[in-house]
Amino acid sequence: MAFAFSISYDFNLALASVCWSIIMEILDQFTEKEEGRYVVYSFLNRTFRLDKEKARARLAGKMVINGTRSAELNVLPIKYHEAYRIYKQMKANHWEPDVIDMTKDCALWNSDKLNARERWIIEMGVGYFSAAEGIVGDSVLHVIEDNLTAAELKHASLRQIAEESIHMDSLLHIISSLNIDIDEVTAKFQDIPSIQKKNAFITRQMPELKMGIDLTVTKNKQKFAKAIFGISQVMEGTQFYALFAMILSLHRQNKMTGIGQMFQYTLRDESNHIALGRYILEKLIEENPDIWTNDFRNELIEFMREGVALEKEFVLDCLPENIVGMTQKDFLDFVDYNADRRLESLKLPRLSEVKVTPFLWLDEVIFLKKEKNFFETRVTEYQTSGSLNNTNEDDLI
Ligand SMILES: [Fe+2]
Ligand SMILES: [Fe+2]
Repeated sequence: MAFAFSISYDFNLALASVCWSIIMEILDQFTEKEEGRYVVYSFLNRTFRLDKEKARARLAGKMVINGTRSAELNVLPIKYHEAYRIYKQMKANHWEPDVIDMTKDCALWNSDKLNARERWIIEMGVGYFSAAEGIVGDSVLHVIEDNLTAAELKHASLRQIAEESIHMDSLLHIISSLNIDIDEVTAKFQDIPSIQKKNAFITRQMPELKMGIDLTVTKNKQKFAKAIFGISQVMEGTQFYALFAMILSLHRQNKMTGIGQMFQYTLRDESNHIALGRYILEKLIEENPDIWTNDFRNELIEFMREGVALEKEFVLDCLPENIVGMTQKDFLDFVDYNADRRLESLKLPRLSEVKVTPFLWLDEVIFLKKEKNFFETRVTEYQTSGSLNNTNEDDLI
């Protein structure tokens, strides 16, 4: 029975994904045509009519790094179409933490129906992400966005920074709703080496990059590329997912559903951030092939390997023993599974043998159309015509 379900689930998912890809390809098609002294660009149902000479001069100066810098942040003509598409997707997914109803969460939190292990997972979620969201926001602002020169890449990164602020705000909503003593929770985390190690691991090279390094030098370009990889693929793409899944496991058991809902929306945002980081990294390497040496590839693989080891230590701190609906093995496998798909997406070799996610249900949770009742809240009202209805499994990574 489980096998039959799996085939049907996979088949439907694959079919939906293929159909959707075809539709999106048609909608997303970029066209360019000349009309006298103008050039007309069409993309994502928008048309831009620009002076041909000026548009081509601006295009020629557009680069991921070391391109023309302009205070105007003029994204036209768009060169990096995927960044603009991701920006639109991010905007369409907009949500506000304040409107999430925390009544049921409060009642459960103040009752004896949540056991100590489950309570600990919630505290870890608040404690870890309070720092982690700040690290990502700060790094995207001062390291990544600051060094990018193409306006549409900066534009999309700025949207990401705004979303990291929303994520931080969602934690404040949790803290105030549950009346959590944040000093007490913070003090608890200061003694947890796995959190300190994870944070130090990701931020250790940031101070140098914040100083503004010469990005015409290969070694420095590699440091920049590694920072993008570290933030988007190791941290957001691998080190966020296990704790997300633990909180969403509770949600699945109808526990702390307001928090679960916020983490679900956050996870969907992170999926766009991972895609944006990967896209910037790919374009950076395409324009600067001197970055992509064997030694550098190995450096990234080792960086991910270290990130995975630290994450596994963290998972065991979050879940010191198996509890109902959650086993340590599943979460450890999930770390490997995520790390490998990030590596493979950049054509780097996998590190483990885990090829299937232990949490198939999580794909359904992220893919909003699947569980209609689950999403019947005010947040869905933020959807716009190009929004969640246009979300498909391929967009959610
Ligand atoms: Fe975030
Ligand atoms: Fe993020």
